[in-house]
Amino acid sequence: MILTREEEAMLLGEEGEAVKLAMEILVMEGDKFGAKRLVPVTSAHIVLAMYKSIFEAGVEVCEKFAAMGAKFRVPTTLDPSGMDTENWRAFKTPDEYAEKQLRIQAAYEKMGAIMSWTCLPHFMGSMPRFGEHVGWTESSAVAFINSVLGARSNRETAVIDICIGLTGRTPEYGLHLTESRYGQVAVVMDIGDRELKSWEYPVLGYFLGKELGSLIGVVDGLTGSPKMDELKSMMAAAAASGPLALVHLVGITPEARVRQDAFGPNKPIRVITVTEETLKKTRAEMCTVKGGRIDLVAVGCPHYSIAEIQNLNRLVAGRKVAANTEFWVYTTKQVRDLAERMGYYRALAEVGVKIATETCMLISPIETWGFKTLMTDSGKCAYYAPMQCGTDVIFGSTEECVEAAISGRV
Ligand code: F3S
Repeated sequence: MILTREEEAMLLGEEGEAVKLAMEILVMEGDKFGAKRLVPVTSAHIVLAMYKSIFEAGVEVCEKFAAMGAKFRVPTTLDPSGMDTENWRAFKTPDEYAEKQLRIQAAYEKMGAIMSWTCLPHFMGSMPRFGEHVGWTESSAVAFINSVLGARSNRETAVIDICIGLTGRTPEYGLHLTESRYGQVAVVMDIGDRELKSWEYPVLGYFLGKELGSLIGVVDGLTGSPKMDELKSMMAAAAASGPLALVHLVGITPEARVRQDAFGPNKPIRVITVTEETLKKTRAEMCTVKGGRIDLVAVGCPHYSIAEIQNLNRLVAGRKVAANTEFWVYTTKQVRDLAERMGYYRALAEVGVKIATETCMLISPIETWGFKTLMTDSGKCAYYAPMQCGTDVIFGSTEECVEAAISGRV
């Protein structure tokens, strides 16, 4: 790889031991992917942040960098914490687990991370613009910023994310290169001229993630004007059921104003048609059981926006969550504070809905509750819950999740 003079200096240790180590790791990573050079990034986002997935080894990595005096060179945000950062005891987080999570928190504070604890750094002051290079982990966020904003990031991995934050560089390969961003597979929407319903966006995303694998799709024929929250949910599901990091949505993705722009010099190597039957079949695949008792309704994956909390409050107003069912909503601290100011926090608590902050159902230790069946409106959660939470899962619209929480069954 060809390095600039500044990068050479970092590699030689002129900016300290931590930056030297980070640069060595990035050069190795670049060589592995055939990168010719490093590209400067304006921000980094770190997934090596939740004890549930990084275990003791991950805690030690964070502490080792912090002990070396590491300081982030570009704004560096954190993925959600492995527990509710304020009310972790109320969510039955074991003390020993909490102690490890707090060690991770202390290490990142020392390194100067932005303590955002969310999978939505782009909605939390770190919004990249069209064409901007960033180095982010968190698959749902990477798929969103590539596909909706036209920013550029590969799906970076744990540890590499820290190195990117410390150096402000990432190897230039994959989605940082224009020629690697052109479409390869045509996806034709064949559902008449109707608009997708909100709950169908994660279903479509789930299908695309599974079907496209690592190929770049170009979705043509989406009608209407999807909301940011719908696209957020779609991208999270797409990046969960497959390795997807970019899908062009004609008329939405900045590089896909028209179909031909998205393909550039490429000819589609395959055509996939999405029909009513595709959506119906995919929705069925997103459930491991058809019905029965619901122990937990969990929404907010990715983290709920204030508009989604507002909608939820409208749906549950004047009702009561069933006695043996838990109903949890995951969101950021900022949205939680807003919900408090607007009276939603209290109103939801009165009907039995709890707001959990800066964590989520997949990365906090919810096994301690012994839930058997979880219901969600999230395609990403539907994909991971059986593995991460050890539960059966039922996917449904937000409205259906509310009905299940009220009756305690589906
Ligand atoms: Fe975010 Fe947790 Fe879902 S990190 S995307 S809420 S799995």
